Amino acid sequence: MQKITKAIFPVAGMGTRFLPATKASPKEMLPIVDKPLIQYAVEEAVDAGITDLIFITGRNKRTIEDHFDKAYELETELELRNKAKLLDIVQNILPSHVRCVYIRQAEALGLGHAVLMAEHVINDEPFAVILADELMDCTPNALSQMIKIYEQTSSSVLGVNEVRREDVCSYGIIKPTIKAHKFMKIDAIVEKPLVDDAPSNLAVVGRYILTPRIMKLLSATDKGAGGEIQLTDAISDLLDYESIFAHKIIGNRYDCGSKLGYLQATVSFGLKHQEIGNDLTNIIKSLELD
Ligand code: G1P
Repeated sequence: MQKITKAIFPVAGMGTRFLPATKASPKEMLPIVDKPLIQYAVEEAVDAGITDLIFITGRNKRTIEDHFDKAYELETELELRNKAKLLDIVQNILPSHVRCVYIRQAEALGLGHAVLMAEHVINDEPFAVILADELMDCTPNALSQMIKIYEQTSSSVLGVNEVRREDVCSYGIIKPTIKAHKFMKIDAIVEKPLVDDAPSNLAVVGRYILTPRIMKLLSATDKGAGGEIQLTDAISDLLDYESIFAHKIIGNRYDCGSKLGYLQATVSFGLKHQEIGNDLTNIIKSLELD
């Protein structure tokens, strides 16, 4: 069994649901309290043992590269002002053993196409895919939970969660087998089905561990739902060759691709925040009294 050391972060999407906030800056840089979404995703990956971060970027995404790079001017300024704590924060966004690769996706042809762009870096190894707008708050973290299953099955593992029936049309939806196996095995998967066609209400929530065969299948995948090359369609083809498992993520999940999910995450992380948690609790209580 090969260890999972590489993770792909598709970050080329336009983020239309957050316009005008995302007109000139990436949705992945939207902060939850004081950290951008992409940093939460990267921290999850690094904590799960990932050492190679592969970002699939596009136009208007330069700030993501800058965020994970050295910031000489800012560091000098913080040093001059004796802001040691802040200096420590900006200097330690990434541990030194972690490497970043940035690949530009010139055209937004879909999630499947974005993942395929990393084929030459993945180099025939199993890998993870993390969608930063799905924010997880779990211990152990979501990707670590999935890696544990990969280590026992040597197979692809998808992170899933139950969603409301009326929301199935926004997700990749799996059909699980009857639970004869220790883990939930997948029988079928379909991208954004109509409510009446959905095989379950178990949605893929932006966490994937995939075996390398997916790359070959992706390169032969035609446009699917929404006229895009869908990762879900290639995963469906992978089922013809290999077993695929699903893991119901244990913990809290926030769909930060939606305004409501984003605000929910902001409040929830804010309430737990060391610096502002107590004050925010009081503010919310006072709002409730109004
Ligand atoms: C993508 C995937 C979908 C998955 C979802 C999770 O859709 O295509 O299968 O369930 O992410 O957030 P998107 O949200 O990019 O339309």
